[in-house]
Amino acid sequence: MMIQPIQPGFVGVVTGIDICQNLTGQQVAQIEAAMDSFAVLSFPNQPLTDEQQVVFSANFGELEIPLAAQMMAPEKRRFQKIELGDISNFDGKNTDKLRDREDSRRMYALANRLWHSDASFRAVGAGYTLLHSRVNPTKGGNTEFADMRAAYDALDMKTKALVDDMIVGHSIVYSREQIGFEVKGEADNLKPVKHRLVVTHPVTGRKSLYLSSHIGEIDGWLIPEARAFLRDLTEHATQRQFVYSHKWEVNDLVMWDNRTVMHRATRFDDLKERRDLRRTSIKGVGLAIDHAPVQQAAE
Ligand code: OGA
Ligand code: MN
Repeated sequence: MMIQPIQPGFVGVVTGIDICQNLTGQQVAQIEAAMDSFAVLSFPNQPLTDEQQVVFSANFGELEIPLAAQMMAPEKRRFQKIELGDISNFDGKNTDKLRDREDSRRMYALANRLWHSDASFRAVGAGYTLLHSRVNPTKGGNTEFADMRAAYDALDMKTKALVDDMIVGHSIVYSREQIGFEVKGEADNLKPVKHRLVVTHPVTGRKSLYLSSHIGEIDGWLIPEARAFLRDLTEHATQRQFVYSHKWEVNDLVMWDNRTVMHRATRFDDLKERRDLRRTSIKGVGLAIDHAPVQQAAE
């Protein structure tokens, strides 16, 4: 296995390994170590089947069930495997028809254009996410990644002190409302969960900003104060020097660590051009804070 850094300390291209085959424990450990030092790894020319993507991903932990699949009626889902996320603009199983302009799945997916960390609205957010490319538009539709360790390091001392112990609330409702889309679903899935804004990587000990468009509140702050501050911080954290933009080739597999990286999709003509990526996510560990239940005032 060889790794060529394309953005030193952040993004590496991995060759000399066939991830369609079962891996040895040593290979898994090598990839994990590389994920810890880089945070984004790209594996070109890996013609994975759905099944092989799930098997490869499961080497790194327990797979997430995507919220979109969970909320969708089983007969409407495109894939048999519920762990596999449908990151396409297809009208479900009919891959020749693109989603209509008003399709709620399209509206939901448009929020992927906001910088975010996957599943940060869950008590246990995603650790690694893996995207495999099947069909790409002729123009646009990149995925961009921003290094939240470098972004944290670059903060001035005062801002570090301000954010170091900050607790924020994440919800899928907050990211979707930013683009004017109202999420409907079970109340349990929509309720904000609390995370620290600054997290420490369990292996490297490096601090990073656990930012995400799913954040909509800061403990102890008024909502407008919080939203204005989060905007500033996101702007800081996504300056070009912290960002890598991945132009997809068919059969690229890119994996990243959501505990240290934010990402977003870039625009493409999704009403005219086809794009198909398959996603798997691994549950992350060590991010959520324990939160004592709030006492209801007696009537
Ligand atoms: C995702 C995601 C970005 C993209 O699948 O979680 O954010 O470029 N995708 O489609
Ligand atoms: Mn995402």
